[in-house]
Amino acid sequence: MCPKYLLILCLLVFIVEARNNKLFNVKKYGAIADGKQDNSVAFLKAWGDACKWKGSATILIPKGTYMLKSVAFKGPCNGSKTFQIKGVLKAPIDPSLLTDNTWIQFRYINQLNVNGGGILDGQGTSTRQKCKNNACEILFTTMDFGFITNGHVQNLHSIDSKGGHFIVFGCENMTFTNLVLKSPVDNRNTDGIKIAYTNRINISSVNIGTGDDCIAMISGTKKVQISNIFCGPGHGISIGSLGNNDAETNVEDIVVKSCNFSGTSNGLRIKTWAAPLKKILKVSNLIYEDIVMNNVQNPIVIDQRYCPEHQCDQKENSHVQINNVTYKNIQGSSATDIPVNFNCSKVMPCNDITLNNINLWHYGPKNKKLRNFCFKVKGDSYGKQIPPSCIPYHAIRATPNMTHK
Ligand SMILES: *[C@@H]1O[C@H](CO)[C@@H](O)[C@H](O)[C@H]1NC(C)=O
Ligand SMILES: *[C@@H]1O[C@H](CO)[C@@H](O)[C@H](O)[C@H]1NC(C)=O
Ligand SMILES: *[C@@H]1O[C@H](CO)[C@@H](O)[C@H](O)[C@H]1NC(C)=O
Ligand SMILES: *[C@@H]1O[C@H](CO)[C@@H](O)[C@H](O)[C@H]1NC(C)=O
Ligand SMILES: *[C@@H]1O[C@H](CO)[C@@H](O)[C@H](O)[C@H]1NC(C)=O
Ligand SMILES: *[C@@H]1O[C@H](CO)[C@@H](O)[C@H](O)[C@H]1NC(C)=O
Ligand SMILES: *[C@@H]1O[C@H](CO)[C@@H](O)[C@H](O)[C@H]1NC(C)=O
Repeated sequence: MCPKYLLILCLLVFIVEARNNKLFNVKKYGAIADGKQDNSVAFLKAWGDACKWKGSATILIPKGTYMLKSVAFKGPCNGSKTFQIKGVLKAPIDPSLLTDNTWIQFRYINQLNVNGGGILDGQGTSTRQKCKNNACEILFTTMDFGFITNGHVQNLHSIDSKGGHFIVFGCENMTFTNLVLKSPVDNRNTDGIKIAYTNRINISSVNIGTGDDCIAMISGTKKVQISNIFCGPGHGISIGSLGNNDAETNVEDIVVKSCNFSGTSNGLRIKTWAAPLKKILKVSNLIYEDIVMNNVQNPIVIDQRYCPEHQCDQKENSHVQINNVTYKNIQGSSATDIPVNFNCSKVMPCNDITLNNINLWHYGPKNKKLRNFCFKVKGDSYGKQIPPSCIPYHAIRATPNMTHK
């Protein structure tokens, strides 16, 4: 904030800062907004100069439609770098023009901003149609953030992705806000935001509708704040799959708050493989709070007996220890009659699971009775419990007015 008597000084600071922020317009580097010609060379040249610039720099992509093959914007750079995308970026339909399973990559950059109100069009539907008859690769992530620190991604629409919209890998201190991520349900494996080996990430005010998880958190995801997400259609906000590989690391400290799920297959899901590991992998300290469900098949689900297409021995028990998970103020409608399904590991039961104020009813028939399912769960329930909680009484955290069955 700028006090009145300092106005002139503030103005000067502003002007100096504006001067300091050097602009690199892709059009000056030969970019052509005809929606056909590939612009990757122009974009990479603009990036090269912006990255080298000592100080903050903005790569401007003005209004217009730009075709762009696979590109990788790599650091390290000097000073903060901003991609201001005002136009529409279009991925090629022909997947042979793309490499590395990604369309746009960012690597090894500190202080990266990506914003501008523009559109990222993955053209996934056309690629899927093209690949229907002659086998070709379809899955390409729209934007892939690898080893980025202090990054802010905001005010963008990502549509019709070929694969996931955003992947965040090996990053620290990231924010994703005011985004719209949409793919047709038929575009499979189109996760909204997929996170791995990342510390401190905030995701807020994002509207996601895809053919896979709205948000997926896998190995090594820590200190996550998720809020104000609309998810639907899609597979919900998921932790996992985890526990199929000894190289995976723990997932912890995650808050999911004020989210709305509508017509999704899952709401709040934790999924681990029913497979052996040489170690114990941990998922701990999670809070899910103030969540609305609308016609969701599995509003609350822990599936530790996950084994798609019988790839593992079903008798194997998950070696993922789930610990300290709170579900508070969760309400709305379920499309199945098991709205809360805790199917935990026989050898490593879920521990310290809290249900506090749960009110879930059937989306269909008004009086249809719902039931919760618990297998190997320890924890507490309190507040309202509709349907009745199946978590057994656990004396350690006894509180007044506890209701349980
Ligand atoms: C940025 O440039 C300044 C001035 O040349 C230099 O002192 C600093 O080490 C550079 N930082 C990085 C990250 O390259
Ligand atoms: C991330 O943010 C925290 C808190 O502001 C800071 O201490 C840490 O140095 C940051 N990490 C990086 C890699 O900049
Ligand atoms: C994420 O949000 C929390 C709480 O709102 C805040 O304390 C933290 O600094 C934020 N982290 C980043 C990386 O913005
Ligand atoms: C959740 O989304 C549904 C579908 O758009 C809408 O009808 C409902 O009002 C929303 N609920 C809240 C609490 O935002
Ligand atoms: C459980 O998780 C919450 C939220 O992260 C944390 O504040 C609390 O300390 C944890 N409890 C234990 C016993 O670790
Ligand atoms: C729990 O998991 C087992 C093993 O996969 C499965 O047979 C059973 O149907 C699951 N129960 C529920 C209620 O989902
Ligand atoms: C417990 O329930 C009683 C009777 O419904 C109520 O008077 C009291 O305030 C409740 N206590 C707490 C801590 O919610």
